[in-house]
Amino acid sequence: MSSKKVLILMGSDSDAKVMEAAALALDRFEIAYEMHIASAHRTPDKVRKLAREARANGFGVVIAGAGMSAHLGGVVAANTTLPVIGVPMAAGALQGVDALLSTSQMPRGIPVATMAVGPAGAYNAGLLSAAILATGDEALFEKLEAFRREMAEKVEEKDAALQRRS
Ligand code: RP5
Repeated sequence: MSSKKVLILMGSDSDAKVMEAAALALDRFEIAYEMHIASAHRTPDKVRKLAREARANGFGVVIAGAGMSAHLGGVVAANTTLPVIGVPMAAGALQGVDALLSTSQMPRGIPVATMAVGPAGAYNAGLLSAAILATGDEALFEKLEAFRREMAEKVEEKDAALQRRS
């Protein structure tokens, strides 16, 4: 179990189903996390407090999932020097194009590591959190290496099955 936790924030309960993928990845590596609904626009004071207190509360990474004009990742990053990973949600009329640009186009000085739109991005946010925490955690590093090997083995198994059919 990593000594550092991951703080998962999402702008709305409508993001929860997708953001569960981040939790799934963290569960895979037995990394503790907390999930909160906190909106950069609807609950700005709560977002600021969570971000400002994150390091003192034992978190090593913050994941921020939001859709539409998504400012959550940027506002969190403005209030902490912990690594912040943004996950754009496919919401509203533009289905994530807006959130992708809002999350990724941060001004120089305040970085947000932006993932793909949707569930793959949320899962990868969990994996990237693990990779960040693994830089100071040998056991976690070994788990990540094993995960990669297993993933490659599954691809090879599928290819072998395909070859048997043809
Ligand atoms: C964003 O607006 C949320 O992150 C969500 O993706 C989107 C829509 O929110 P709801 O209107 O469904 O609460 O703030």
